[in-house]
Parts: sequence; structure tokens; C-alpha cells
Amino acid sequence: MILPVIMAGGSGSRLWPLSRQLYPKQFLTLCGEQTMLQETCSRLMAIEHLPPLLVCGEEHRFTVAEQLRAIRQNHSGILLEPAGRNTAPALALAALRALAAGEGDPLLLVLPADHLIRDLDAFRQAIQAACQPADQGSLATFGIHPTAPETGYGYIRCAPGRSNNSRVFKVEQFEEKPDQQTAQRYLKSGDYFWNSGIFLFRASRYIEELGNHRPEILSACERAMAAATIDVDFVRPDRSAFLQSPSDSIDYAVMEHSRDAVMTPLDCGWSDVGSWSALWDASTKDDSGNTTNGDILLHECRDCYVHSDHKLIAAIGLHDLVIVESDDAIMVAAKNRVQEVKKVVERLKADN
Ligand code: GDD
Ligand code: MG
Repeated sequence: MILPVIMAGGSGSRLWPLSRQLYPKQFLTLCGEQTMLQETCSRLMAIEHLPPLLVCGEEHRFTVAEQLRAIRQNHSGILLEPAGRNTAPALALAALRALAAGEGDPLLLVLPADHLIRDLDAFRQAIQAACQPADQGSLATFGIHPTAPETGYGYIRCAPGRSNNSRVFKVEQFEEKPDQQTAQRYLKSGDYFWNSGIFLFRASRYIEELGNHRPEILSACERAMAAATIDVDFVRPDRSAFLQSPSDSIDYAVMEHSRDAVMTPLDCGWSDVGSWSALWDASTKDDSGNTTNGDILLHECRDCYVHSDHKLIAAIGLHDLVIVESDDAIMVAAKNRVQEVKKVVERLKADN
């Protein structure tokens, strides 16, 4: 049986001024009616599964619980990390919890809480295809056809034909966040996929691989879970034990080293909404290519993203801009420079 593990611990600053430390992207409604976390839960309807396990920071516990309640989402518990240690330890907590829950050794479907997926049918088919190899012990990844030499993604190269399942390929190389030159080379070669950040594996296999490659992460998480406290829905690993875990992502800690990884291509209108321009890319647009959210009046504008939380925004004769109004800030940026929002956030942090 599939146990979805929803990772909701990111502190995305790339969608400032909407996303904040206390209110990161997964808790925002960016496209459609639901928040990204709620959409991630709703997407699970496409597959047969146990109630999901949530993993998030202690400070976000009420937001997560409240957002699940609002859509009447059952769950198998909300695991609270005392501090962010990135995804390798977060998933170790989830896998240990799953193994202790008495449901045997479930297949963990790891889902980031802040991604968009347009085609649910394609999503379901890819997961179904990966179930058998994952059941047999492989770590399954899902690959996206790359469209640009992005350096913020993992790159996967497979060995086509070395599989008895035409939709699942053995991974020959997994490289997390290559530099610009390498990413360009990989894109040009046509041999690589982007890692979507979605994974499927047996809980015990993840624990085994983490123990092989990063034993110090595993032992800190084992100690943290052995002394965990449970308070209704919330599971609290022991703070001092967990703080001893090094911080690392599953991609660097496990996927780059595993010899037993497979990949299924995932052609499902995926976006990790890593920037305002990615959000504009993934959103519905009017005839002039504008996406608007809130009270907006545009006159002869094209290819803009405009979001207003409170005020009417009127714009005339603009193109390729991002304009965002929130509680306490207004941001106006050239759409091709929105990556630099990070620099603004850094400056604001330094000034405070
Ligand atoms: N619970 C928890 N705890 N969740 C976390 C933590 C943590 O400490 N850190 C990150 N997350 C969540 C984020 O909210 C996000 O949903 C997911 O885990 C991935 O973390 P990111 O920080 O967004 O990773 P990334 O974007 O740099 O890279 C990953 O995703 C790319 C695709 O979007 C990697 O898997 C790449 O290989 C991949 O290409
Ligand atoms: Mg991300």
C-alpha cells in the first residue's frame, strides 16, 4: 500500500512578498481555489493510498492542521521537526514513523507540498508504473523533460532499454544542482531529465540506503524517534537528538550514491513554482498573456503577472513585469530578473 509523505517544511523566499518565513509558498493559494498543500492532498485522489503523513516545522503545525481540516483531509499524523535539517533527515523521520506504525513496510510516495501538476492522469500512470520496481526495492524517481539549463534541479541520466518495463529506466547518474556549464552540456546532450523531487520507495529501503551513505543522519533520527512524544495528531521527535543530525537533502545524501535508482518520465504539466516567472508560466493567461489575481485593471499590457491582496492595481502600457501587492509590501520587477528577489530578501534580513 502507498503511504504518501508530504514534505511541507520549505521556507521559500523566492515568492516574496507573498511567501514569508511563517507563511511559505506551500500554504498560499497561487493557482486555483486551494493552497498548494491542499492541492497536493487533493491530487492523491488519483491513486489508492493510506492517509498521508505530513512532515513540517514545529512553527507551522497549526497552519498545516488547519489547512487539512478545511478540506476534511484524513491523515496518518503530522511529524514536527524541531528545526529544519533538510529533506534527508525529514524523510528518515517519516520512514521510521511508518515502520513503527504497524502497517508493515509501506511504499512511501514522497511529495513536495509546493508543486503544481496539471495532468492527474499522467501523474497516476507514472506512479503506477513505478510501483513494481519500488516494491522490489528500487528507489524510484520521476523525471521531467528539461527545457532550460536550470541549476536548481537534480539531473538524471538513464540507461534506456535496460528495463523490462518500457516506462521505467535504470538510473546511471544522478547529479544534484550542477553548475551552469554542466547544466548547459546536459541539456544539449538530450540524455538527461530533471528530477521532479517526487520519489517512491519502501520505507525500509530508504532507511537502509541512508544508513549506508549517511549513517550519522540515520542514527540521530533513530534516537530522535525513539524518544518521540505523541500529542493527538502531532508527533514530536526528540529535539536534542534531532539537532545532532547534519543538514542535507535526499538528493545529495542518498540519490547521488544509490546504485538502485530507477526513473519514470513524468509528463504531467509539472512546475515547482520556483519563481514568479515560473508561476506566470504555469498560470492561465488572458489573450494578451497577462495573469491577474485580485482586483486588477490592465490597459494595453502584455505578458505581465499582477497580484493584489487588498488594493486595486491599475496598469497602463506595461509588458513583461511582475507586480505583487501584499499586506506590507509592493514589489515591481522585470519578469526576467525575478530570481533576484532573493537578493532583496537578503537585504531586508540584513537591515532588520
Ligand atoms: N519537512 C521538510 N523539512 N520539508 C522540507 C525541508 C525540511 O527541512 N526542506 C525542504 N523541504 C520541502 C520543501 O518544502 C519542498 O517541498 C521539498 O521539500 C524540496 O525542497 P526544496 O528546498 O524546494 O528543494 P530544491 O527545489 O532545492 O530541490 C529539490 O527539488 C527539485 C525539483 O523541484 C531536489 O529534489 C531537486 O533534485 C529537484 O530537481
Ligand atoms: Mg523546490
